[in-house]
Amino acid sequence: MSNIEQTLSIIKPDAVERNLVEEIKNIFLKNNITIIESKKIHISKEEASEFYKVHQSKPFYDDLCNYLASGPIFVMILEGKGVVTLNRRLMGATDPKKAEKDTIRKLYGISIDKNSIHGSDSVENANKEINFFF
Ligand code: RTP
Ligand code: MG
Repeated sequence: MSNIEQTLSIIKPDAVERNLVEEIKNIFLKNNITIIESKKIHISKEEASEFYKVHQSKPFYDDLCNYLASGPIFVMILEGKGVVTLNRRLMGATDPKKAEKDTIRKLYGISIDKNSIHGSDSVENANKEINFFF
């Protein structure tokens, strides 16, 4: 049996801009995930750079940080059984072109950069990311 966990989810600027927040929240609710807290915010480039610090050596780091700060985002604490892994499964592959059928990135992602959603990739990172935003 999976443990009850929490994870951080971010609906990225491309999806907030296209009014997809409610549709994406419904995917979580249908999968027995509880949205414990949520807020719509617009972060600075500096905050985005801090959030994505693990990627600072990557060639796409600067674009990634500019993008996350480019418009409002919707951040959520999700809670449920094995929610870290479940959320990653519901999100789909990083590149929407490679994402599995019915995943959030397959349904809504535009490109590998504008891929509509972020989700923590481990319980440890989930705790850090939740503390970053809440
Ligand atoms: P995320 O952190 O946003 O949930 O995405 P992820 O775990 O699926 O992917 P990750 O490797 O953590 O990458 C973070 C974000 O960087 C962009 N990316 N671009 N051009 C590229 O090769 C590339 N690789 C990653 C994506 O926007 C990804 O969401
Ligand atoms: Mg990641």
